[in-house]
Amino acid sequence: MDFKSIIQKKRDGFALTKEEIEFFAFSAANETVPDYQLSALLMAIFFNSLNEEETLWLTDAMARSGDMADLTGIDGIKGDKHSTGGVGDKTTLVVAPVVAACGVKMAKMSGRGLGHTGGTVDKLESIPGFRTSLETDEFIDIVNSCGLCVAGQSGRLCPADKKLYALRDVTATVDNMPLIASSIMSKKLAGGADCIVLDVKCGSGAFMKNQESAKALAEKMVEIGRGAGKKIAALITDMDTPLGKNIGNSLEVAEAVETLRGNGPDDLTEICLLLAAKILQLAGAGDFEECKALAKSKIADGSALKKLAEMVKLQGGDENYILNTELFPKAKFFRNVVAEESGYIAAMNTEGIGSVCVALGAGRQKEEDAIDPSAGIVIEKKTGDYVEKGDVIAILYCSDEALFDAAEKQYRKAVTFSSSKPNGIPLLLDVVE
Ligand code: URA
Repeated sequence: MDFKSIIQKKRDGFALTKEEIEFFAFSAANETVPDYQLSALLMAIFFNSLNEEETLWLTDAMARSGDMADLTGIDGIKGDKHSTGGVGDKTTLVVAPVVAACGVKMAKMSGRGLGHTGGTVDKLESIPGFRTSLETDEFIDIVNSCGLCVAGQSGRLCPADKKLYALRDVTATVDNMPLIASSIMSKKLAGGADCIVLDVKCGSGAFMKNQESAKALAEKMVEIGRGAGKKIAALITDMDTPLGKNIGNSLEVAEAVETLRGNGPDDLTEICLLLAAKILQLAGAGDFEECKALAKSKIADGSALKKLAEMVKLQGGDENYILNTELFPKAKFFRNVVAEESGYIAAMNTEGIGSVCVALGAGRQKEEDAIDPSAGIVIEKKTGDYVEKGDVIAILYCSDEALFDAAEKQYRKAVTFSSSKPNGIPLLLDVVE
């Protein structure tokens, strides 16, 4: 099959055949076509999209592009979650150990940063020694031994998505609904869990900017999951404001640990409890309120934090960094962003804030870029907070002082002030089951 003619066909707005979609996915997995042709097809898909059939074929082909994890070696029901991507979204680091502490195994495959959003794999790799590239047998052994494992895409699981995800990250082809749905659901199908909860983010920091498109994405993914025999639900949650206070890899691990200690920010704690409760409910642990209370009790008694430390150790990481997050090296430089006026913070362009974080070194601008694990932002004032002129609204961290001027300017641009208090947005916007 000729790859150039597939690009041309999609460029001209035609639907691709099943064979052409499979050729695309397998060529990406096996790296048998160059990145520039894969990127060109991604851009053609970005502009002309994929219909329902093409989306299902792409999901299926990407899921089959490597091994399909056989988790029958793990006793009991296996849970999984996936976020469509946000800023400051460290929920996996809290939800997975909470659910495992409640007795439901979490077998989770996560991604790296994508566009302006962070990725769990990059966050976990800020822990010295932590390995996210695991063979399926080791993944299963770790879930069996401590109840949870969070792995990246090994060379063998969903290699097509691994390749396309990295290219989308640096070619501005992320925010396309069929590409997001097939990327997430191919991993969820190949990952082999029984119960899946999707956290579909909505708002200025999400790929889906409004509730209508977030709901359409949630419905599409739930339908794909149900068609594959999974117990699946999607929560549509707010991403108009960064989640929690910390953005950046080791900063986010530290905030997740605080949340597991019971001292996390209210918004992060609440979303984590909702997600954990939904997984537990799908796994048959009780009704939603019972499951939420159970999840809360595992934070209160310290058992969820213990689970995270156990997992880190089994994946080769130094668990002392979980027990004492002060061990994480601090960024070499910091800059306070100080309010130039008094008033309420009326809105935050959360995608803009995510992009500041990437520019500080916490994400990639090119595929081969290295991540600076200590770079990031601590947000001191968020939407709805009253600020006096001179108050610190955020602290920027990075290893290259020369980056601060542009980053500060961009951060200021992302924050809007008003003399009146804005209306709050609920954290949970909708549920699709
Ligand atoms: N998360 C994924 O795994 N893929 C996407 O495309 C977006 C978020």
